[in-house]
Amino acid sequence: MVSAASASAPLWSEPDDPLAAHHFTEVRRPLLEASTLPPWAYTSAGFYGGEVRHIFGSSWNFIGRSDQLREPGSYITLDFAGVPLAVVRDKDGTIRAFANTCRHRGARLLSGEGTTRDIRCPYHSWNYSLAGALRIAPEMEQTLGFERADFGLREFRLETWGGFLFVCFDPAAPPLLGFLGDLPALLAPYQLDDMVTVRRKEWDIACNWKIYVENAMESYHVPTVHAQTIQRQKRSITPPLIGHGQWCGLYTAHTGSRALEAGDTGFPYIPTLTGASAAGTYYILIYPSTMLALTFDCLWWLEIHPRGPQSMHLVSGACFPRTTVARDDFDDVVQRYYRRWDKSIPEDNVISEIQQHGIRSPFAQVGRLSHMEPLVHTFANWVLDRVVGVGAGGGETG
Ligand code: FES
Ligand SMILES: [Fe+2]
Repeated sequence: MVSAASASAPLWSEPDDPLAAHHFTEVRRPLLEASTLPPWAYTSAGFYGGEVRHIFGSSWNFIGRSDQLREPGSYITLDFAGVPLAVVRDKDGTIRAFANTCRHRGARLLSGEGTTRDIRCPYHSWNYSLAGALRIAPEMEQTLGFERADFGLREFRLETWGGFLFVCFDPAAPPLLGFLGDLPALLAPYQLDDMVTVRRKEWDIACNWKIYVENAMESYHVPTVHAQTIQRQKRSITPPLIGHGQWCGLYTAHTGSRALEAGDTGFPYIPTLTGASAAGTYYILIYPSTMLALTFDCLWWLEIHPRGPQSMHLVSGACFPRTTVARDDFDDVVQRYYRRWDKSIPEDNVISEIQQHGIRSPFAQVGRLSHMEPLVHTFANWVLDRVVGVGAGGGETG
């Protein structure tokens, strides 16, 4: 617990050793005795640097869905934790993740998304195949010892599960299915491979990535933040799900799709749901920064790309079963779902920026947690398990 003396002392800046364990002893206590992470954990460049290196640098990071890349030559680009990425479906249909950085003098290669026959640098026209091999390097014949074969694109590990794409920067990390643990078995009734992505929306948000994750994994804020939209949904009172694997979640039993506003009717339910999946909704956090919500008739996700200590990019996507998307009334009825998401997601975006604004005050102090925020606590400790005492600028100092 925080003493009155320390609680009254303004914290003018982050400590010199933001990754040292002694700052976090109160966060390590059980939920109802614990403190929140210190405010500077949401603003500190040093703390963020530890996260990039020890969390995003070694996890399987969710980056979307394979049906975004429909044909050979389809590509998307994104910036993930400071790494410009180009994700490309090659001539043989394999989806590959490349560093979107030219091997000549480093220019970004692809921009936005689209379809291309090859990867041509916009600076001096070095040209790479869709599999990343350097094919043409104009005017390089006189350069001594230069071999095109040595200058292919840097490729990262990319694996898929249920149609979702994950990229990993760590060559030594275990495979994706080991990372996910028992989550694929839990979500098997949803037949994720048979889902179709029907839309994606993106926002830049001025907050630390952890603020957005925490918001997504507690329902304490729903009656306040979503008072005009989804507040009539019953709040979760069941114990959190702690996965065997890099995930945790909430499950709420209820009737009616969670992807609709009260009173709206929507599509038929996914016919393969059984047991708990047929009786409620799962809200799953796949660490570090992706939330999947799976309800009776669809799923939606929130995908966070960290951009810095106080900024992030949000992608929201939604999938429906193939049979639902094939219905004649799909384009009409799906608008009800879009209307619900287009209200609730911006409400979360706004409150996250409001929280960031308050928490960056030099007078911001650690807080305490309610019984409705178990996963805020679980998540904070998951982060600390990975960054504390292991990074440059930190060190186990007691
Ligand atoms: S930087 Fe790409 S060709 Fe020169
Ligand atoms: Fe919310």
